[in-house]
Amino acid sequence: MHRRQVLTTGLATLALPMLGRGAFAAVSGRPLPIPPLAEAGGGVTTLTAAFGQSAFFDGRATPSWGYSQPFLGPTLRMKRGATARMRVENRLDFEITSHWHGGQFPGHMDGGPQLAIAPGAAWEPELEVDQPPATLWYHSHSHGFTAEQVYGGLAGMLQIVDPDRPDGLPGTYGEDDLPLVIQDRTFTESGGFSYAKQGPTRMHGFRGDQILVNGAIRPEAGVPAGLVRLRLLNGSNARIYHLRFSDGRRFHQVASEGGLLPAPVVMDGLTLAPAERAEIVVDFSDGAPVVLWSGADTNDPMSGMMGGLMGRGSAKPPRAVGAPRGVFEIMRFAPDPARPGKVASLPGILPAEIPDLGEPVRRRRFELSMMGGRGMMGGGGMGGMGAMTINGRSHDMARVDVQMRLGETELWEVIADEMAHPFHVHGTQFLVASRNGKPVDQALSGLKDVALVDGHAELLVQVNRKADARTPYMFHCHILEHEDSGMMGQFTVA
Ligand code: C2O
Ligand code: CU
Ligand code: CU
Repeated sequence: MHRRQVLTTGLATLALPMLGRGAFAAVSGRPLPIPPLAEAGGGVTTLTAAFGQSAFFDGRATPSWGYSQPFLGPTLRMKRGATARMRVENRLDFEITSHWHGGQFPGHMDGGPQLAIAPGAAWEPELEVDQPPATLWYHSHSHGFTAEQVYGGLAGMLQIVDPDRPDGLPGTYGEDDLPLVIQDRTFTESGGFSYAKQGPTRMHGFRGDQILVNGAIRPEAGVPAGLVRLRLLNGSNARIYHLRFSDGRRFHQVASEGGLLPAPVVMDGLTLAPAERAEIVVDFSDGAPVVLWSGADTNDPMSGMMGGLMGRGSAKPPRAVGAPRGVFEIMRFAPDPARPGKVASLPGILPAEIPDLGEPVRRRRFELSMMGGRGMMGGGGMGGMGAMTINGRSHDMARVDVQMRLGETELWEVIADEMAHPFHVHGTQFLVASRNGKPVDQALSGLKDVALVDGHAELLVQVNRKADARTPYMFHCHILEHEDSGMMGQFTVA
């Protein structure tokens, strides 16, 4: 039997009953897994995509997919100025791709849907790393199947580092510099992943009732009693997190998707949409244990009308102990007073590299819609609702939607009226010029490759790598069910 079927058919049958959440106890509080570090450089770095068995629960195995491990992949590190020779082997029995999300690599190295890796095959891109230090990620991007492939585990963190440009921030991997890949999942009675891309799940995007960080359910991280850098990646299909600490403590954001901010920005809460990253520095020097919480994700279209169906499409994690309504736990931090922090104080300014993109030479408009131009119920019933579109057109691998000129700055106006959509552009890092007519605050004024658009946003986009019509770049909604349903377009750069 095909392994793909093991994962997906299991899901389809088990998505319906959703038997009581108390049927088996989720194992939380395990130590935070730290993915192994895979440093590219020197020879070839191999990622092997394969079927695996994970143990999210005691005594139950969960079929999953991963890169060189059962679920998710190692943290890839690439050095600025070096060439990363990658080899992605596909030992699964379906096509995958390997997209370097946030990377500035030419179209034929980008790993988009056109660069399918057949079962048994390998892909060997040579990536010339030439962009500021940043927290990126990699994931499969197969046409129409990105949602289930990422859900099953085909994702990992990617860090760009620049040893010649010290930033003064905590930076010892796994000690005071932690990768945190936050995802939500739903499990079946037998411990398998539950997922079916239909009806409300497709419309709203999938939301699960268990929170995983680096592939463990609500884990606990032992940290030094000092400053710790957390590299947060929302690797969820659709859930938007509204993060804060249980004791309301403040923290500083130091980087967004594309790299450092000019100075740390103090805050007591942070919204992280799918595929967004934020690096924050948290002070644990008081030695007090603390829980990272999230507020509820309310990003649903027509919640009244669809209300009756939402139970299945939009599961809710249980309320955290002592938390207000709707607030759930992501993970815990247990500072160790015997381990002082390595970095005594937060620098006042950071070596940010935010370019001046100048005046845009042209304007483009991107209207995101879930109505498919045919009315929501077009296409026959809940299972086959109208396609999702950008400017009235659903994604087509054979059509180039936009042709850009190398190095020219454009103003992209993005419109999302039905619900908020995290809009992502490949091949570059953009700047957000405005959201709903207002300039953005400091934390959003750095380089980004995903912007949550709720209404209207203006992005300044300049691309400095080439992509031809055979391997174009993508722009799309990063709610993966929306992307797979057609809310995606392609662009060339010449
Ligand atoms: Cu994170 Cu088109 O991708
Ligand atoms: Cu991308
Ligand atoms: Cu969307």
